[in-house]
Amino acid sequence: MNEQRKRILTGDRPTGKLHLGHYLGSLQTRINLQYEYDSYILIADVQALTTHWENEEILAENVVNIAADYLSAGLDPEACTIVIQSMLPEIHELATYFALYTSVNVLRHNPTIKTEALQHNFTDMTYGFLGYPVSQAADISIFKAHLVPVGEDQIPHIELARKLIRRFNELYKPVLVEPQAITSSVTRLVGLDGKNKMSKSLNNCIYLADDRAAVLSKVKSAVTDPARIRKNDPGHPEVCTVFAYHKILNPGELAEITAECQQGNIGCVQCKNNLAGKINLLLEPMHERRNKYKNPDLILDIIAEGTKKARKVAQETMEEVRSAMSINYFDIYKRQ
Ligand code: TRP
Repeated sequence: MNEQRKRILTGDRPTGKLHLGHYLGSLQTRINLQYEYDSYILIADVQALTTHWENEEILAENVVNIAADYLSAGLDPEACTIVIQSMLPEIHELATYFALYTSVNVLRHNPTIKTEALQHNFTDMTYGFLGYPVSQAADISIFKAHLVPVGEDQIPHIELARKLIRRFNELYKPVLVEPQAITSSVTRLVGLDGKNKMSKSLNNCIYLADDRAAVLSKVKSAVTDPARIRKNDPGHPEVCTVFAYHKILNPGELAEITAECQQGNIGCVQCKNNLAGKINLLLEPMHERRNKYKNPDLILDIIAEGTKKARKVAQETMEEVRSAMSINYFDIYKRQ
């Protein structure tokens, strides 16, 4: 790996399969940038436990599944390093130091924390959940990442990370790197229900692993313009979920689809078939790659190697951090 290149760090909680919203919101950016940056992708299993501590059994399977999603979506294991968060204790060590000067009120007012607390019915937030953005700041800074490709909901966390890193560098020594978030133009992909963001818990997703038939039947179930009862009724593309997907996935035909729909010349069924075709075109190369990774041992080897490499980086950063904080007493390890 070329040490001169700038670094990317980003990650996901392994709580389920990845869907189109993940792909268009951040995965695609990571794939596009993977040869330009030294890229680290974190499977944030400990962060997943901040909402799923009573369902720890879901993690093992999802860790492998999410890695399979990454690799089949086009993350190249030769170019980017896939890392398991729990296997880097240095992250938790750094998070503890960040926590020393993180205000509880700032965490309480974090809009993403508030939204997620509502989603999970957390009336009395745990210390671990409230503090996960601090640990996320450690995820980023342990790698000294310059860029963090994320969905829009993560911006408050990246802002916090920047503040904690800046403060660290002022308080102790300037050893950490202040990162920048990058979001894609698709910041919020609507779900098949047409009302909410695409989200596993709302059962309104097209998954990257869905086959052709599943995609077609899901697209057929998508909510369209309620004013179109018969095929010839004039349509209103701006209120139609299927059109929202065409906008992103089928820009070449957009003008034509708009006109034909408004004039009642194409029916929703035809329009949906067209869209399903476009989605399947996007997913097809992913399915081909997924076949290559059928054997979970292959995936585990990639994660193990990535985690080993990442641990070295994390250990180096922590040595600098401890020395900056003057908590490297007596060089005890060196004496052994
Ligand atoms: N909070 C992110 C999410 O829920 C996952 C994540 C964990 C992450 N650590 C990270 C994202 C570090 C970017 C950088 O999607």
